[in-house]
Amino acid sequence: MKRRYLMLLSLLPLGLHAAPAVDTTQLQSEAQALIPPFQHQLLATVKQAVAEGGPAKAVEACNLLAPGIAAQHSKAPWQVGRTALKVRNPDNAPDTWERRVLEQFAQRAAAGEPLEQLRHGEVVNGEYRYLQAIGTAEACLGCHGSNIKPQLLTLLDQHYPQDQARGFKEGDLRGAFSLRRPLDR
Ligand code: HEC
Repeated sequence: MKRRYLMLLSLLPLGLHAAPAVDTTQLQSEAQALIPPFQHQLLATVKQAVAEGGPAKAVEACNLLAPGIAAQHSKAPWQVGRTALKVRNPDNAPDTWERRVLEQFAQRAAAGEPLEQLRHGEVVNGEYRYLQAIGTAEACLGCHGSNIKPQLLTLLDQHYPQDQARGFKEGDLRGAFSLRRPLDR
């Protein structure tokens, strides 16, 4: 009995050191604060390009500018981006952790949970990672719906021969914002 107690005691400090306190609430609000300006600039860029040269111009703009916009909104030590189970640009394909969380989001959405509630943060291998669902709005259908104009389809095929990000309906889970930052040692 006594021996067992001692054994438990000896495990205690180890357990404490293995899990340093991480303020995930603080990290989550930092992550959440980075999303609206990123999202806003993506939408503004698409809108401006559509106004200047129609949807075809906007596809070119997304193709050229989306990665740069993500880089611009990545404030050290944070990195922001977008991912999805069905991606247009293979560079946005989910890694193992993102895929697992996206699949959980998809299940929760299928069970009727509102997309705004689909968010998840977690410490993974010394990093804080955060995923927040992106819904499909009507404005997205011209490029991600099932009735994409032929001229646009040609362009999409040209830039994204492996495009999977089509056939979405309004209200569908389109993907997620994905943020990560290494934790301080
Ligand atoms: C003008 C066409 C166009 C419109 C409108 C548009 N997108 Fe996209 N979308 C694209 C292109 C092109 C890419 C690939 C960008 C890249 O190369 O990184 C993309 C990529 C994405 C990605 C990143 C994952 C992936 O598939 O590569 C998400 C998420 C996304 N779009 C969501 C949306 C949402 C939500 C809307 C509506 C609010 C929207 N898009 C409207 C053209 C469009």
